[in-house]
Amino acid sequence: MPRFDDSDFAVVSAPGTPRTEGPNPFAAVRPGVSRGNSTLAIPGANGNTVEIPASRSSISDAAALMHNLSLSPSMKERRGSRNSFGTSLPIPRSPRHSRLLSKRAGVSQDILASQVQDMSKEKVAAAKNMAFAFDIDGVLAHGNEPIEEAKLALKMLNGDNELGIKIPYILLTNGGGKTEIARCEQLAGLLESPISTDQFIQSHTPMQALAEYYETVLVCGGEDFKVREVAETYGFKNVVHPKDILAWDPTVSPWGIFSEKDRENAKPRDFSKMKFDAILIFADSRDYATDFQIIMDLLLSENGKLLTRAKDPVASRIPIYFSQGDLVFPTNHKGPPRLTQGSFRIAIEAQYKALTGVELERVVYGKPERATYTYADEVLKNWMEQIHNENTLPQNVYMVGDNPQSDIIGGNMYGWNTCLVRTGVFQGKEGENDAHNPANFGVFDNVLEAVKAAVRKELGQDFKLKWNPKVNPVLHGDDSSAVA
Ligand code: G3P
Ligand code: MG
Repeated sequence: MPRFDDSDFAVVSAPGTPRTEGPNPFAAVRPGVSRGNSTLAIPGANGNTVEIPASRSSISDAAALMHNLSLSPSMKERRGSRNSFGTSLPIPRSPRHSRLLSKRAGVSQDILASQVQDMSKEKVAAAKNMAFAFDIDGVLAHGNEPIEEAKLALKMLNGDNELGIKIPYILLTNGGGKTEIARCEQLAGLLESPISTDQFIQSHTPMQALAEYYETVLVCGGEDFKVREVAETYGFKNVVHPKDILAWDPTVSPWGIFSEKDRENAKPRDFSKMKFDAILIFADSRDYATDFQIIMDLLLSENGKLLTRAKDPVASRIPIYFSQGDLVFPTNHKGPPRLTQGSFRIAIEAQYKALTGVELERVVYGKPERATYTYADEVLKNWMEQIHNENTLPQNVYMVGDNPQSDIIGGNMYGWNTCLVRTGVFQGKEGENDAHNPANFGVFDNVLEAVKAAVRKELGQDFKLKWNPKVNPVLHGDDSSAVA
């Protein structure tokens, strides 16, 4: 079971946590040594990154789960936990700007809207002081199928409302596996709304900060070799994909999957000479056998030299980072939610414990980790600047999610309003909230209902969720044809 500090997400760096400099900054933790407050060392400070104390334990979940499998780490249990830890999660100091611009509504609507907005200053201020953070899987889409209500919700926030104003929103997903540009293009088509990379955070987006710390990395997960492109875009200098290793020596993974297409795209090198600095899991594995084997080979190696075996694997272990911790996620499968990266991680932890007798220490990014929400604030501020020319952080942020154990607990702990929808992992009936991690703003049938309720709370119950093209600013925008 994940263990959290009493102060939940407001943890500070654990006292006495050693700080080290250099490319492989993780200090050894020897079996039998009391873990006390600190286990993994915090990577050295760096000019372009900010280190956010981890809110999730750096110690493997596997031991606690092996005899007591549970899918419900709850807020209550987290509060009760005494396990503290000292790892930090580096995130970029400020998000990179993309050159993608969101589509404008059209010059004549812009002019009319600004006239209407001039006459409704209070509502305009309220619209700029609220924002949404949308989960994707189970809220906006199921895999490659859009959720219809999501299209209307985004249209309304993009200016199809009585003020013709953009109400800020970002997408905050634990998904990943392809570049931000590729995913935004795909989503824009799916949801029929422009989506900029500047309003988009996937599980591994903040992990670009790690490029300041590690040069040679094994990057796992996702389709084909897409995560290689992701890691290179983030600035990692020497990126190795598990299939590069299979191309070099297929016997490394006896049950591995290796196609002709893989051979065309793999980059085999002499891996016997290479020293890896870290392992990064960016998305769901598509070849568990190979990924398990190579990850375990590196965790057991002498300082990251593939296929060596360290005398003391714990002392010379290289760090491993997972981009998110969800155990299950909603897909287009008609039955219960499907297993995802958190379940893969627990298998790695269990293998490591079985082989070495000690717990695996690892870092997990993504929701509900505080670092992800801190990064989201930066993205939101930058997005406000792009759409409203104001570098301010809206005070009333609404997280709309389907997973109580990531979206809702994370949002609650970060002080956001939380809306739980019934279109994904959470399947509660009418009138029910999640028992362990209840959404503080409420439970809704779908994202559109959540957005309507939040907008009406902030902008007034009579706020019209449709732009009226016949609006006449001289009459204060009052036109009987406006649709509520
Ligand atoms: O693998 C889990 C991931 O797909 C969940 O994505 O958008 O629900 O955070 P999301
Ligand atoms: Mg979801």
